Amino acid sequence: MNEQQKTELVAAALEARLMAHAPYSRFFVGAALLSTDGTIFRGANVENASYGLTICAERTALGAAVTAGHQTFSGIAIAAAGGVSPCGACRQVLAEFATQLPVVLVDTESNNAIREVDLAALLPDPFSS
Ligand code: THU
Repeated sequence: MNEQQKTELVAAALEARLMAHAPYSRFFVGAALLSTDGTIFRGANVENASYGLTICAERTALGAAVTAGHQTFSGIAIAAAGGVSPCGACRQVLAEFATQLPVVLVDTESNNAIREVDLAALLPDPFSS
């Protein structure tokens, strides 16, 4: 992921966040996943009245990408208040496709400041069958 792609990925995650359906938590999350061919796939968290059925932004983006035929990725940006790190479930699901994925965390409360980590650091020794 080059600097221009990173900038575009952050912008896409911020836009995707605006589409979140989060009436229960009021915690809005946007994700943008960069395919190795340069295509960006967006996702937002989609909550449900039956709370446990909620889908995180990261997994929504991944589902869109895989459905479009993309299974190799070079980065993900995640935008939320506080620049939060992805949940454990999303780490495992992302690791299915890219154990070394660069992760860009965008803090919407701090002027969209970014923090960069690698999925391998967030999820060492992921499960694989
Ligand atoms: N959420 C995400 O979209 N991604 C994460 O990695 C963690 C949490 C969402 C789920 C729920 O809609 C809201 O944030 C509060 O947990």
